[in-house]
Amino acid sequence: MTQTRRGLAGWLLGGGVTASLAAFLYPVLRFMTPPPVAEASVSEVAAGKVQEFKVNAGKLVKFGSRPALLIRLGDDEWRAFSGICTHLNCTVQYQESGRQIWCACHNGFYDINGKVVSGPPPRPLEEYTVRVRGDEVVLSRRA
Ligand code: FES
Repeated sequence: MTQTRRGLAGWLLGGGVTASLAAFLYPVLRFMTPPPVAEASVSEVAAGKVQEFKVNAGKLVKFGSRPALLIRLGDDEWRAFSGICTHLNCTVQYQESGRQIWCACHNGFYDINGKVVSGPPPRPLEEYTVRVRGDEVVLSRRA
């Protein structure tokens, strides 16, 4: 009878420990392996209000899940490109002094039209269309 009680107690205790471990590990494993999320194909984003952008300055804005570089060259002159270097995917930035786009990773330079000037980037930056609607700056992917 004692043997049976010990066996039952051991079985219940073992089951409890197993259930506790499972309850602890399941959310940890779910966190470590998130479900695949299909990246929504974004074709247009509102980047902000016109007055938020200085003349001869660039700003990284979100274009879906990726960065876009929005450059205000003059009061009504804008450029926007993918913010991802075509070499090895580093994020580019606008250099006000040289009016160029620079990738710090391997010293790649693009002109204000996104064309490669020097360094290792193999292709121009993808260019986006910039429109001002009211006081809002809107970027859109080119067809
Ligand atoms: S990643 Fe931009 S120059 Fe290499």
